Parts: sequence; C-alpha cells; structure tokens
Amino acid sequence: MTRFWKPGTENPRLLDDEEGGVIFYNTSSSSSSGYGYVSMDKQRQRLPVYKYRTAILYLVEKHATTIIVGETGSGKTTQIPQYLKEAGWAEGGRVIACTQPRRLAVQTVASRVAEEMSVKLGEEVGYTIRFEDITNNDITRIKFLTDGVLLREMMDDPLLSKYSVIMVDEAHERSLSTDILLGLLKKIQRRRPELRLIIASATIEAKSMASFFNPRKRQGQDDEQIEPNKEPAIISVEGRGFNVQIYYVEEPVPDYLRAVVSTVLSIDDLEPMGDILVFLTGQDDIDAAIQMLTEDSQSNRKKGLIVLPLYSGLPRADQDLVFSPTPRGRRKVVISTNIAETSLTLEGVVYVVDCGFTKQRIYNPMTDIENLVVTSISKASARQRAGRAGRTRPGKCYRLYTEEYFINEMSAYGIPEMQRSNLVPCVIQLKALGVDNILGFDWPSSPSPEALIRALEVLYSLGVLDDDAKLTSPAGFQDPMISKMILASNDFGCSEEAITIAAVLSIQSIWFSSKGVQKEMDEAKLRFAVSEGDHVTFLNVYKGFIESGKSSNWCHKNFLNYQAMRKVHEIRLQLRRIVQRLGITLKSCEGDMKVVRKAVTAGFFANACRLEAFSHNGLYKTIRSSQEVYIHPSSVLFRVNPKWIVFHSIVSTDRQYMRNVISIDPSWLTEAAPHFYQHKQLDPIPH
Ligand code: CDP
Ligand code: MG
Repeated sequence: MTRFWKPGTENPRLLDDEEGGVIFYNTSSSSSSGYGYVSMDKQRQRLPVYKYRTAILYLVEKHATTIIVGETGSGKTTQIPQYLKEAGWAEGGRVIACTQPRRLAVQTVASRVAEEMSVKLGEEVGYTIRFEDITNNDITRIKFLTDGVLLREMMDDPLLSKYSVIMVDEAHERSLSTDILLGLLKKIQRRRPELRLIIASATIEAKSMASFFNPRKRQGQDDEQIEPNKEPAIISVEGRGFNVQIYYVEEPVPDYLRAVVSTVLSIDDLEPMGDILVFLTGQDDIDAAIQMLTEDSQSNRKKGLIVLPLYSGLPRADQDLVFSPTPRGRRKVVISTNIAETSLTLEGVVYVVDCGFTKQRIYNPMTDIENLVVTSISKASARQRAGRAGRTRPGKCYRLYTEEYFINEMSAYGIPEMQRSNLVPCVIQLKALGVDNILGFDWPSSPSPEALIRALEVLYSLGVLDDDAKLTSPAGFQDPMISKMILASNDFGCSEEAITIAAVLSIQSIWFSSKGVQKEMDEAKLRFAVSEGDHVTFLNVYKGFIESGKSSNWCHKNFLNYQAMRKVHEIRLQLRRIVQRLGITLKSCEGDMKVVRKAVTAGFFANACRLEAFSHNGLYKTIRSSQEVYIHPSSVLFRVNPKWIVFHSIVSTDRQYMRNVISIDPSWLTEAAPHFYQHKQLDPIPH
C-alpha cells in the first residue's frame, strides 16, 4: 500500500512497507507549459516560440550566433527550422541543419516536421543518422541529423558549405559530439561570415555559451558596422506554465525498481486519468520494470494500463506506439531513459516518476577504463524530468529520493561528457579533420589534460598516429580498436570475418532480450556457442542468418533480434565498401579461427586479462592496470573462464563485467604489441 502525504495534512506514518510501498510527501511546486488538443496549425501558433518568431528571425539575420533558451516543448526544435525556411534561408539550394545528440530524437522530430509541413519525409524534410540517410540532395531543405553525423560530413566538406544555418540543439546536454562540433563551428564561422549558428538549450546556462562565441574576448575589439554582428545574441522563450506538484519519498528507497512499480500502481489506483512517464537508467532496468509491472498480479487485473519502453535503438513500431495517442479510458505508462528528459515531447503525460539516476559514461585516465555507470542525476535534470508532467494540465512528479538528498547531494548541473570520457575517438576525429594542435584546441569546456595525453599515448601505441602525430589509419573507422582489428585482418587473411565481427560489435546486442525465457535463450545460444568465445560465436550466428535467407522466423526461433541482425548485415555491407576503398583484400580464412582470434587480439590487446590464480569465482585482472573484472553472464565464456582473454567493453553494475570476450594465447599479445607488453608480466598461471 502506498500513501502520499499532501501538504497541510498531518505527516503520514509508514504502515506497511512489506509490499515495497513508498511514502511520498509534497513540498514545492514548479511550472511548465502545455496545451490541449487542437488542429495542427493552431497547435503551431499556440507554441510559446511562435510569439518570438519575428524576434528570432531578426536576431539570426543580424547576428552570427543566436542562443535560444526555452523550456522543453516550447517549439524550438520543430518550429525554428520551419521559420527559417519560411524566411528564405533555404533558398538557392541552401540547407538548414538541426543537430540532436540522439538518433531517436532525430527520427521523431523529422517525422513530426514533415507531417506539419505536409511533405513526405525524405523529400523537403529529411534526416541522417549513422547508417540511415533519409534525405535527397536535390530537394531536402531542412535536415535533421545527429551532431556525430555532421562532424563526419566535415570530412568531405570542411566548411559545411551547403548549410546556411546550423542549429545545434540540446546544447545544455553537453554531449561529447556537441562540444567538439561547437569548437569546430567556431572555427568555420571565421572563414564563412555568412553562416549563421543557432544554439538551442533547455536550461539557462547560456552565458558561458555566449562568452565562448564572443570574439571580443579574444580579439580585443569588434566593428559594429560589419554585418553580421559577431557578438552572440541571447533570447529566452517564455512558456506559460502548469504547476507540477513535487513529491519526495520520506525514507530512501532500497530498491528503486520495486518502488517504481509500486508508485505506478498507486498512481493508477488513486489518481485521475493521465499518462505516466517513468525515468529509469537503461534498457535492462526498463525491461525489468516492464516485466514486473506486467507480471504483478495486482496490475494483471488492470486492463487499462498500456506499459511501453522508450530508449534509443527501440524498433520503429515500438517508437510509434509510444507517440500515438492513448486510447480513451486507458492509461499509458512510458518507461524511459533520460531521452524523454528534454529531447522528446510526449503528449498527455500528467505523472512523472523519477528514480533519480541515469547511466553515464565515466572514464578514468589513470586506469584507462571507461564504464557506463549508474550515477545520480543533477538538480537541473531533476527539474527537467518534473517539467514533463505539466504539459497539458497541472501534473505531479514523484521523486524516489528524499528532499534532503535533492538539496544536499545532487549537483546543480551535470559534468560535460567531454570531461568524463575516453578521448581516443574524439582525438582521431579532430586529427582526421586536420586539427593538428589538439592540446590547444578551443573547447567550450576543456577536457582534463590527463585524458587528452592518455588518448594521444594510446593512439601512438596503436600505430594510429605516427611520430609526427599525423593520422596513419584511414578515417571512417570510428572505434580505433575495431579499426586496428580490421587492418590487422588483412595480414591474417581474414578480413571477411573481421568485418562481420566489427559489425556485430558496433550494435548493442544481437540477442533478443526478454526476461522470462532465460533458459530457452541460453539453449538457443548454445547452438552457436564455441569455446573460443563470443566473437567466433557471432560468426556462426551471422552465417546461420545468411543461410536462413535472412529470415525473421529463423531469428525468432533462435532468440535473435531480427532488427539487430538486419542492421548487422547493413553495417557489414558498408564496412565492406570502406575496406575495399582502403585497398584491403576481402578474404575469408575458411574456418581457421586461430587467425581470427589473432586479428581480434591485434585490435584489442589493450583489453587483455588474466584469470587470477586460484580464483574460484571467475576473477580476472587486466594486464594493463590490474583492475578486477569478471566475464559478463551474457557471454558464452561465462563460467568457462579461460586463462587468457581479451574483451571488447566493460559494463559495471555491482562489479565490472566484460562483454564480448574471446580466449587468446598470451604470446599473441607480445606479437601484436611489443611496445606495449614488453615490460608486463605475461608468465603462465602457476597451478
Ligand atoms: O524543442 P522543444 O522542446 O522546444 O519543442 P519541440 O520538440 O519543437 O515540440 C513542440 C511541440 O510539438 C510539442 O510541445 C508537441 O506539442 C509537438 N510535438 C508533437 O506533438 N510530436 C512530436 N513528435 C514532436 C513535437
Ligand atoms: Mg527540442
């Protein structure tokens, strides 16, 4: 039983916590904007940003850079590109670009704008994300894309000359690619005075952006006569707001998944109609919560609940369900990662449940390990999440943490991704774009020098940078370890296998994730599993997939994610083309898995681990830094525990788990990277 404490009443007593019940009490309120159901045109005109249309167009005309701050849902992303087009910025074959940090946001926003303009997606309005280009060079005038894709476009067109206006959206998120992009756009602006930049952000952190783009600080003076004005303009879009009541838990919750389930069920019991948006940390969390909600005997009786996941990489059909209107008399529960925090707008949400956590990349340059870690969100994020409850009418936000925790423990803003990431991919990208002085690059906020130097070191040892710090490996391979593996496969005569492995490694998982059928799934995996490890297993899976004629039925029977397998096939074709262009011979080793493992080792030698002597629980230590790591339960080598392995990536929950593991011979390490391993202990394990 869950009870809520309303303001002005006596503080409630905890009656029964056995069922995972949670007690909340209410304190303050905040506000957000929102509107009822009306026609598309009316809807457009009612958005807060509409009143600022003229002002925005004026500022963009007059200023090189315009910073626009406005609450989520105020119309920044969907309206401003249309205003720009209406004002003529897309004439003469020019294109208006709008970047997003997330692929899913790119897709949904582009569909929405195409719908508003009554055009077919991919014609006047299009989008590009990695491996998916829904644009037409001749007619697309408004183009949505991830900031990563725009960075990649710079390789072919360093000045991004086809764009008249580039709107960098969701700048408050400070994603790694956004920050790199801002640094580069600032350089481009000096060469292309006619280019206009718009920086859109949901929070008022605009001052630091403005000073970053302000040339006066660096050049001393500016001539006001010259158009456009180089000094950035800032405009804030005010939204009318509905109140959101905030509720906190009285006591910290021991298990936020159970707390989420119990809170959703009591909202459904006690509160009037309105959809519920739940913020969790990632796909695993979300799947588990959905499982609990749909299995819970109490909720089974509730035919009115429609429980849906929302995260990047969600299949198209599931995305559509999330964004389609809730049927009358039903209640939608959308369980999401922080993608719904600011980049997507869900209509009809009245209740928000916020677990208080998010998954973040955190990199430690000393140990050279990058983890996805569940961390506390910032106050700014908490406010954004709460704001999602008040779009169409007054709403409520249930925070699964105490008010004291919010006030004393949560930081005001998050740390930019730049300052908590492995910078290897970023350095490769900048090098490929001809930025030679990486240490002197003008960043919106500087990364730590340790992380930068570490990245340069790794790239030297990988042979990706030569002695003059010039890029040796061809651009286009994003992950340096995967690139190295592919390059090495040329020498080992197994490039066909290496690109299959590369394609599988570049997506999240090929297995269908579903909790109730663990046993059947493990059995299905055994059909493909081999003692060499996951990479070789992937080759078997891919072979089976092709032999089945790329059948969805076959995937279904083998607990494989059909969409994921199709993606693997697509990526593989693309890699094949790149590899051919680089002059690598496409060749199969015809079943000689030793050379495949050697090629993998050549790329991933820095991720080598040894099983601890006398370890009974599968404890490994990395050779580099003696980090304690374990094989992930999803690996075919889980419980097999070969002595020597290399892994592809680490996920950390209660422990550091290695995903995608392959067994190796330690002598291959010195072969692959003598400069790296000559001083390391590679003695066999004593028995
Ligand atoms: O970018 P910002 O958060 O300021 O707002 P937006 O994404 O441009 O969304 C403006 C409005 O368009 C939202 O409040 C929704 O009413 C509507 N919208 C929608 O109905 N469906 C979408 N897929 C996107 C936006
Ligand atoms: Mg937006």
